[in-house]
Amino acid sequence: MKVLYAAAESAPFVQSGGLGEVIGSLPKYLKKQQVDVRVILPKYEDINDVFKDKMKYITDFLVPIGWRKQYCGISKLIHENITFYFVDNEYYFKRKGLYGYPDDGERFAFFNKAVLEALPYLDFTPDIIHCHDWHTGMLSVLLDSNYKNNPFYQNIKTVYSIHNLKYQGVFPRSVLTELFNLSENYFVTDKLEFYGDINFMKGGIVFSNLVTTVSKSYAEEIKYPYFGENLDGLLRQKEYKLRGILNGIDFEKFDPQKDKNLFVNYKNSLSKKNKNKIKLQEQLGLPVNENTPIISIVSRLANQKGLDLVERILDEMLNLDIQMVVLGTGEKKYEDMFKYFAYKYPTKLSLNLYFEGSIAQKIYAGSDLFLMPSLFEPCGLGQLIALRYGTIPIVRETGGLKDTIVPFNEYTDKGNGFSFANYNAHELLFTIKRALSFYQDKKLWSKLVERATKEDNSWEKSSLEYKNLYQELIDIK
Ligand code: GLC
Repeated sequence: MKVLYAAAESAPFVQSGGLGEVIGSLPKYLKKQQVDVRVILPKYEDINDVFKDKMKYITDFLVPIGWRKQYCGISKLIHENITFYFVDNEYYFKRKGLYGYPDDGERFAFFNKAVLEALPYLDFTPDIIHCHDWHTGMLSVLLDSNYKNNPFYQNIKTVYSIHNLKYQGVFPRSVLTELFNLSENYFVTDKLEFYGDINFMKGGIVFSNLVTTVSKSYAEEIKYPYFGENLDGLLRQKEYKLRGILNGIDFEKFDPQKDKNLFVNYKNSLSKKNKNKIKLQEQLGLPVNENTPIISIVSRLANQKGLDLVERILDEMLNLDIQMVVLGTGEKKYEDMFKYFAYKYPTKLSLNLYFEGSIAQKIYAGSDLFLMPSLFEPCGLGQLIALRYGTIPIVRETGGLKDTIVPFNEYTDKGNGFSFANYNAHELLFTIKRALSFYQDKKLWSKLVERATKEDNSWEKSSLEYKNLYQELIDIK
């Protein structure tokens, strides 16, 4: 079974969020299940030279974009036993960062075409191309149109995964003919048309053989207008080919027993975890006290993450006997909000407006509670990493958060976290206070920590679900 992953980011090369984490870990687990998975990515400027130096040139060719032709180089790198291919064009990808450019439509039109054009040059013809998020949504459209009569491509099937329905890649109608060389017949509601524009994600949903998203709850939620981002009607129509498969995390990378980023390694001991807390407090300039609970947020600072709720209750929160650590970057509105509170409560809130994996892992290890009150959450990886490090999540019951966090019940002694249902700031505050009331009971808390570390959220189970899905597609002749 041969599967090619086409995606816009992958750890450890380039990453802006959860998508990169998934692409960097799921293939390793599929490989263990005898699936030959390879990955193809844009060769961004931001990829570290250590990796660039190891890439081996394979070939180059020209890719038609409208009336022009663009250079495309393909190189290859084997990392942790997985083959990665890189699509090189300096005009499109030799820039800072990954996305957010006015010509993103053209950059990813090029990438989608380049992936298909590259296939005949690789020593690998996939049975399935598995595309991820809007950046690769047009690939299945191209297979259905420009490449349809080319025998080389005829048996290739496609899977399309939605990691976040909010970002759809919507571009003007003109891209259809000017970039994709597609006929105007595609500009209709049941194909690519979306409120007068072209929608890449819609293309992926309509034309791929199967569509998946990253949790069962999110797969249900997006069929309703509240979560559907104007595609709920289409998703209801395509329900027959929509599946939810929960994300896992890389259990080797996130392992408190082996993680070299930690001050002290541990399995589930609260006292060793507290040693990490003390060192973290020292490093971040917070008052050192192992009995003060630390609540952390490691996240993109975006509206999705429920930060409006946090804003409303931060005064009340920071007047409790707690410390807070925030790590991440994002919308200016939220960065400013945290700056204000960090200024007002310098001994309570440590604000770190950047992202760096090694400090993130120290924060996961050194904190007691992990806050993720998302407005919506396709899966969420932060809560899974937190559990692995024995840090108890406080989440809102939505999407993947709902599917992975079972609220603690002191009477039945079940649960691995704390949760609330309504998008309401004081429901969140109440839930935080409830969690803190148990924190004081060291015996109970140790048990919760131990239970969290025992949860198996590795890719072991979900990678098998993907494998079965691929097999299902291959079996359809
Ligand atoms: C996006 C989603 C997140 C999900 C991740 C990986 O970042 O917001 O919920 O876990 O993709 O699938």
